[in-house]
Amino acid sequence: MRNIMVKKTILVTGGAGFIGSHVAKMLDSSGYHPVIFDNLSTGNKTSACYGSFFLGDLASLHDLKKVFEQFPISAVIHFAAFIDVGESVKEPARYYINNVSNTLNLLETMRLFHVDKMIFSSSAAIFGLPVHIPIGVDHPCFPVNPYGETKLMVEKVLRSYSHAYGLHSCSLRYFNAAGSDPEGSLKHMKRKETHLIPKILQSMKQNQLLTIFGTDYPTKDGTCIRDYVHVDDLARAHLLGLEQLFKEAPSSAYNLGIGNGYSVREVIKAAEKVTGLPARVIEGPRREGDPAVLIADPKKAMEELKWQPKYIDLESMIRHAWQAILL
Ligand SMILES: NC(=O)c1ccc[n+]([C@@H]2O[C@H](COP(=O)([O-])OP(=O)(O)OC[C@H]3O[C@@H](n4cnc5c(N)ncnc54)[C@H](O)[C@@H]3O)[C@@H](O)[C@H]2O)c1
Repeated sequence: MRNIMVKKTILVTGGAGFIGSHVAKMLDSSGYHPVIFDNLSTGNKTSACYGSFFLGDLASLHDLKKVFEQFPISAVIHFAAFIDVGESVKEPARYYINNVSNTLNLLETMRLFHVDKMIFSSSAAIFGLPVHIPIGVDHPCFPVNPYGETKLMVEKVLRSYSHAYGLHSCSLRYFNAAGSDPEGSLKHMKRKETHLIPKILQSMKQNQLLTIFGTDYPTKDGTCIRDYVHVDDLARAHLLGLEQLFKEAPSSAYNLGIGNGYSVREVIKAAEKVTGLPARVIEGPRREGDPAVLIADPKKAMEELKWQPKYIDLESMIRHAWQAILL
């Protein structure tokens, strides 16, 4: 009983999703009480297995008020959003409403309940086409799709809220989240796959064709290069960000990648090695707005948060993702 009283309660919006469920697990094992707030629009109840679960929608001020009344929330980790870049081009209104307007509902509820700490899931998509590689925190921000715009807008809102209301935040700009729980306790739940590694693994498992979008990029093998960062390492960065906010640090932003990139062909080759299955690849045209290379400069996160990614090899990321798909 005494233990429960001293645990800090952290509201995890979108905690039934891919990254949020891993963070909820780490919060739980690190002595926090995660309260998952999710409408299950893309997330899954089975993944919301650590801490408490509250079925709610950020669009509803009523739901938000209820969860803040029910739990003694000390800080918020805000994952809930729509995340499909292509869909954001076709249906921008849904993205601006859910990712921006609904985030304002959350921030206003935080103000109402005097909660002044937020970790925000931002994205490398805020930068748009890279001017230089690697991409550091001060790289110019010119998003090339509505999804990236929504993340940049929220970062701007957070800066204003920090300045005017003392609501401090830590924006974490993930590059390509990959892998899965190394302990194998979280099952892969994605329904509509948009990420390369699970897409490759699903196509192998189901013996389906896999399209490579663009093989004429100015890279070593003609395919796009991305910075893959293990979800367990991302989760650790959230806990470090949280500790920093609890020490009353000012608002900040960090780029989270390993600082190294792998091409699509390299990822496919590594997946074949891990699974022992062949990939049935077809070569397609480039996708609009896909830069040739995206690699993070994570120096600021390493220096200030003391973040040190553990799983920097592609094979570990693929092995853990494969393990979660087979669960
Ligand atoms: N996956 C990546 O590679 C990546 C990269 C950069 C940034 N991000 C950001 O990280 C966050 C989490 O991404 P993910 O891959 O775990 O996505 P996900 O779709 O698995 O998780 C999002 C969760 O938010 C919930 N949600 C959405 N709208 C909601 C609402 N209005 N009210 C309550 N719950 C709602 C969904 O049900 C889902 O559980 C997102 O904000 C995303 O933009 C992800």
